[in-house]
Amino acid sequence: MANTKSIHGEWSSRFAYILAATGSAVGLGNIWKFPYITGENGGGAFVLVYLACVVAIGIPIMIAETMMGRRGRQSPINTLATLSTEANANSNWHFLGWMGVIAGMLILSYYSVIAGWANAYVFKAIFGGFSADALEVKASFDEFIASPVKLVFWHTVFMIATMSVVMRGVKSGLEKAVQLLMPTLLFLLLLLVAYAMTTGEAYFKGLSFLFSPDFSEIDGDAVLTAMGHAFFTLGLGMGAIMVYGSYLPSGVSIAKTSLYIAGADTVVALLAGIAIFPLVFANGLEPGSGPGLIFQTLPIAFGNMTGGWLFGILFFVLLVFAALTSSISLIEPVVAWLVENKGYTRVKASIVSGTATWALGVSVALSFNVWSDFTIFGKTIFNFLDYLTANLMLPIGGFCIAVFAAWIMHEKHVKEELGLPEQQYAIWKFLASYVAPASVFLVFLHVVGVF
Ligand code: TRP
Repeated sequence: MANTKSIHGEWSSRFAYILAATGSAVGLGNIWKFPYITGENGGGAFVLVYLACVVAIGIPIMIAETMMGRRGRQSPINTLATLSTEANANSNWHFLGWMGVIAGMLILSYYSVIAGWANAYVFKAIFGGFSADALEVKASFDEFIASPVKLVFWHTVFMIATMSVVMRGVKSGLEKAVQLLMPTLLFLLLLLVAYAMTTGEAYFKGLSFLFSPDFSEIDGDAVLTAMGHAFFTLGLGMGAIMVYGSYLPSGVSIAKTSLYIAGADTVVALLAGIAIFPLVFANGLEPGSGPGLIFQTLPIAFGNMTGGWLFGILFFVLLVFAALTSSISLIEPVVAWLVENKGYTRVKASIVSGTATWALGVSVALSFNVWSDFTIFGKTIFNFLDYLTANLMLPIGGFCIAVFAAWIMHEKHVKEELGLPEQQYAIWKFLASYVAPASVFLVFLHVVGVF
C-alpha cells in the first residue's frame, strides 16, 4: 500500500479539491487560447475535434493521472518511482515525471508573459478606459506588445505573484480565492455573451463559425493542435493534476470529480468563444489574427457597453486570477520535488524554480518584439515553446500516463483507487488502454505523414 497522506498536506475537502483542480484547468487556455486557435483553424470542425478529444482522450487520462497521484502521494517524479516499484516495472518510468517538470516550466515561461498582458489590461482599463473603436483598440494592443520593457515588467509582476502563492503552499489562500473567483468569472462571461447578442447578424455569424463544422478547413496539424489543446486546457500530461491528486483525501471519487472539472472547463471555453466571435465579425476583424485576439476584441465590447469601465476592469482582474490558479499547478510538481529530494523549504524551492522560469519567460516576452525575427524551426520563441509543449510534450506525457495506468499498474491497485462500479470501470479501462493511446499515436503518425 502506498502512503496514505502527502507530506505537503491535503485539500480540506472534496469541494476544495474540485475548486483547486478547476482553477488549474480554467485559465488562459479557455479564454485566450481557445478562441484564437479556433479562429486560426477555421472554426466549427476544429471545435468538434477538440470536444471529441476532451471526451475520448482527456477525461480518461485525467482520471488516470489523478489516480496515480493519489496512489503515489508525492511529487510526480517520486510518485512514478514508487508506483513503478509497486508494479515491478522498470524504474525509468520516473523520467516521465522529469519530462513533466520540464514541460511545466516551459509552459509557465510563456503563460506568465500572456498573463502579464492581462494584468497590464487591468491598468489600461482603470486609467484609460477602453475605446469603442476597433482600430484604436488594435493600435493600442500593437503598441503595447511592441514594448519589451512593458512585457518584461508585467511578466515579472505575474511571476512574483505566482511564486508568492506557491511559497505558502497550494492549500492556504488558493482554496478561498477560487471559491469566489469561479462564479464571478462565469457571471462576467455570461454578461459578455449577452452583449455579443446585441451585435445582431454578427452574433449568428459568430455562432455559425463556432458550431457549423466544415472539415475542409482542417488538416493534420489542426487536428494535432485540437488534441494538444485538450491536454493544455484540462492541464494534463505533465503531472499538474497528478500532484493535485496527491493531496486528495482518500475516498473521494476521482472519476466523478474529473467529469465535473472537465465539464466546467469546457463550458467556460465555449462561452468565451460565443462572446468573442460575434465581436470579431461585427468589427470586421480577422478570426485568425492570433494570440492578440481577445485583447483586440473584448475591449471594444467594454468600450461600448454601459458600465463597461467597471466590467472591463473586473474581467481582466478575473482573467489574471484565473491564470494565477493555473500557473500554480504548472510549477507545483518541481517545487514538491525540490522539497522532497533536496530538502529545500517551500520558499527556497519557489525562488529557485521561479527564477529559472522567469528567465526563460524574458526571452518569450522579447520574441514578440525585438527578437521577433529570431526563429527556431521557423517559429518565434513563443510559437516554438507553445508547439513543443502543447502539441508534443503534453500528448506524449498523456500517452505514457494512460499506458502506465492501464497496462503497467496492477489492476487491483487501480480498482482500489478508483472505487468504480464494474461497468464504469470497464468503460474507463477501455478508453485508457486503447482509445486514448491509439488516438494520440495515430494523430502523430498522421502529422509526420505516415498516412
Ligand atoms: N489549463 C490551464 C489553462 O487552460 C493551463 C494549465 C494549468 C496547464 N496547468 C497545466 C496546461 C498543466 C498544461 C499542463 O489555462
